[in-house]
Amino acid sequence: MVELLDEGFDVLILDDLSNSSITVLDQINKISNKKPLFEKLDLKDKKGVQELFLKHNDISGVIHFAASKAVGESVVKPLEYYENNLVPLINLLQEAEKTNRSFSFIFSSSCTVYGQADQLPITEEAPIKKAESPYGNTKQIGEEILWDTVQSNDNLNVISLRYFNPIGAHESLEIGELPIGKPQNLIPFLTQTAAGIHDKLNVFGDDYPTPDGTCIRDYIHVVDLAKAHVVAIKRLKEEKQNESFEIFNLGTGKGSSVLEVIKTFERVSGEKLNYEITARRNGDIVEAYADTYKANNVLGWKATLNLSQGIKSAWDWEKKIRNKS
Ligand code: UD1
Repeated sequence: MVELLDEGFDVLILDDLSNSSITVLDQINKISNKKPLFEKLDLKDKKGVQELFLKHNDISGVIHFAASKAVGESVVKPLEYYENNLVPLINLLQEAEKTNRSFSFIFSSSCTVYGQADQLPITEEAPIKKAESPYGNTKQIGEEILWDTVQSNDNLNVISLRYFNPIGAHESLEIGELPIGKPQNLIPFLTQTAAGIHDKLNVFGDDYPTPDGTCIRDYIHVVDLAKAHVVAIKRLKEEKQNESFEIFNLGTGKGSSVLEVIKTFERVSGEKLNYEITARRNGDIVEAYADTYKANNVLGWKATLNLSQGIKSAWDWEKKIRNKS
């Protein structure tokens, strides 16, 4: 939002606040000196979405972030995941069609669609593997829905952004991650452990075929990620796209192992982290990092912040929210 407002876009935020806080609006205002419009809306509510598009009849594009993203939870509650991640997409696309104007649509996809890719770094051409979880499947199906829709609609242009592993917080420390319950992702669990909320971080396996035996991921700073969305929406608005459905990987191109992440954390924070090697986690892939050629050269976006900066901002954010409470 901040990046969009900074670029002069008129932004309307739609959120049902089920996993976010209304105070974020004030924090956005503090950073950018602008307050985006906001409507509390559950995008599963078809009628609500229809009314919204009637009320704001100049909407010409959507960046569709809203989705559930916990892999383990999706295995336990598949129907909730299919409903929550796909019904809003369909509702939004139906209203986009009704505008009968050129419409830009950016979709938050994930590198999870590649599963364990056969070749690294992972290009956008890598085959889609059968999803390991309902969550992963919702991202694959979401892309298929978008693909089919652009085939039948000349007004619609879509960019699907496949995120690698987003980390970090805004440098102002006004906005960051607030996981509800016990985080499943590495960085929030790590910073919470260092803040004393958990006794130790479990490192899920050190017997993988990697240099230090731990899994490798491509950690991308959320601010870089946010900027990619602005570049993507501008690409569609300025009609620079080569095709009506384009896919870009969003990563740094650099893989880092879990132990490297821990070492980096200890270096940038000056804290010692309590961790233990435990069994592998079910469903984990060994190694994933992006081939950034297409994002760099076709989209015209490149990650500028590195792992240390991402981890440092995540740690600064953690300290800030802990001191408050
Ligand atoms: C996870 C999801 C992925 C989703 C992505 C979005 C799983 C299996 N995959 O990716 O589908 O798109 O988040 O953010 O959940 N690790 C530990 N200890 C921990 C937590 C993690 O060692 O307590 C390790 C994991 O084994 C992995 C790495 O840290 O090697 C990163 O894990 P995580 O942050 O959960 O991300 P992904 O598994 O890559």
